[in-house]
Amino acid sequence: MTTFIAVLYIISFALFIYGLMGLTGPRTAVRGNWIAAVGMGIAVIATLLTPGMGNWLLIALGVAIGVVVGVPSARKVKMTAMPQMVALFNGVGGGAVALIAWVEFRTTEGYAHEPAYVAIASLFAAIVGSVSFWGSNIAFGKLQELISGRPITLGKLQQPVNALVLIAAIVLAVVIASGGDAELLMIGLLVAAGVLGVVVVLPIGGADMPVVISLLNALTGLSAAAMGLALDNTALIVAGMIVGASGSILTNLMAKAMNRSIPAIVAGGFGGGTAVASGGSGEVRPVRSTSASDTAIQMAYANKVVVVPGYGMAVAQAQHVVREMAKLLEAKGITVAYAIHPVAGRMPGHMNVLLAEADVPYEQLKEMDEINSEFAQTDVALVIGANDVTNPAAETDPGSPIYGMPILKVNHSRSVIVLKRSMSSGFAGIDNELFYDAKTSMLFGDAKSSVGEIVEELKAL
Ligand code: TAP
Repeated sequence: MTTFIAVLYIISFALFIYGLMGLTGPRTAVRGNWIAAVGMGIAVIATLLTPGMGNWLLIALGVAIGVVVGVPSARKVKMTAMPQMVALFNGVGGGAVALIAWVEFRTTEGYAHEPAYVAIASLFAAIVGSVSFWGSNIAFGKLQELISGRPITLGKLQQPVNALVLIAAIVLAVVIASGGDAELLMIGLLVAAGVLGVVVVLPIGGADMPVVISLLNALTGLSAAAMGLALDNTALIVAGMIVGASGSILTNLMAKAMNRSIPAIVAGGFGGGTAVASGGSGEVRPVRSTSASDTAIQMAYANKVVVVPGYGMAVAQAQHVVREMAKLLEAKGITVAYAIHPVAGRMPGHMNVLLAEADVPYEQLKEMDEINSEFAQTDVALVIGANDVTNPAAETDPGSPIYGMPILKVNHSRSVIVLKRSMSSGFAGIDNELFYDAKTSMLFGDAKSSVGEIVEELKAL
């Protein structure tokens, strides 16, 4: 049986890796997800086959609760709410690891009789799992607006309190590792780590939250891998390391693309408080507005149109009508491409997923570096619900919070048309000089309605 279980675990993590490879492109992502899910199903079966498995009624109850809560929420979640969904699911992973460490502590009556590596790995898993569970819940609460998205800090006490709870968790871990077997020690360690998760995430502004969620995700992976080491469970080690490594790489890529430093995000000192800002500078400056009919005419006479999608396109769910518009333009012989900024929207790959949903040909999606050199030959850049990712202040204003963030250089196009509802700012809470540029026109309204009107006008031309 042991060999059979080991073989099942090997099959399951081979499927995790193969599934992950599928997630590298929109075409193969759904299949990749299914493959990884089958791998997880096999891993669960292998675990249930382990000799001495406990109370079947409790296990069945746990599985039933998981299915009843998990399946409908995953099916119903809106794409724009995906970051908080990931936070929640990731959090329960970390919580499960912390609970397993606690159960092991009880079963083996402390770690004194275990090899040192088991004690160290289990205590690491308990601390990091608990940090991840509580931190992820706070992240969920902020993004779901159950608590304020603004930084909630303890002022000058913040750093001392952070340091104090971290030291408390470490001291308790050392006491347990050196033979302490009182259960209160373990409970104290889990509570200290939980408080650490809460006090570290509360001061972080909502705009930085997706990066923090990715970081917590990486931590959950590492804690699971550590627990796998302690339990001698290969599938857990491999799955944990995959999550840990991919989460770390993703965190780094996101932070780079947003011009954020990860330590600064965690310290809560940079980009904080920008999530709910909406007013810009407040100064009223003239902009040129346009109509759907003028936009349609302008595009109908273009050779090349570049669509620049952003968060607003996701909110409006305008992707299908955008695709319809692109087809009409293509039928008129106009070249259409889509400019994809790595942090457009609210999660990595957000625009790719939306546009793939609308069957936009993959070849038309152009990464930032590629499309930036093409804007100079573009007649119309149609900015649909994008804001920060087009803001020239990132290149020109050293005082701007987004200074240094690479942007889509739409202002190099011959003309720019921006579709949004008002002059409100984007996530970074700052004004966008692009809107006041002489070659920019604003088409105010909900993106889906505006593009719908453009489609009607194009059909009538
Ligand atoms: P934003 O800068 O957030 O701007 C979105 C714009 O969409 C807003 O200015 C809003 O203006 C408009 N909008 C909202 N609903 C709309 C609707 N129904 N119809 C038309 N327009 C609508 O978006 P972006 O350019 O995609 O930039 C993303 C931002 O999120 C960046 O600051 C990035 O750093 C941050 N961020 C991204 C990620 C990832 S991984 N993608 C993670 C964390 C943070 P109105 O209200 O006037 O309509």
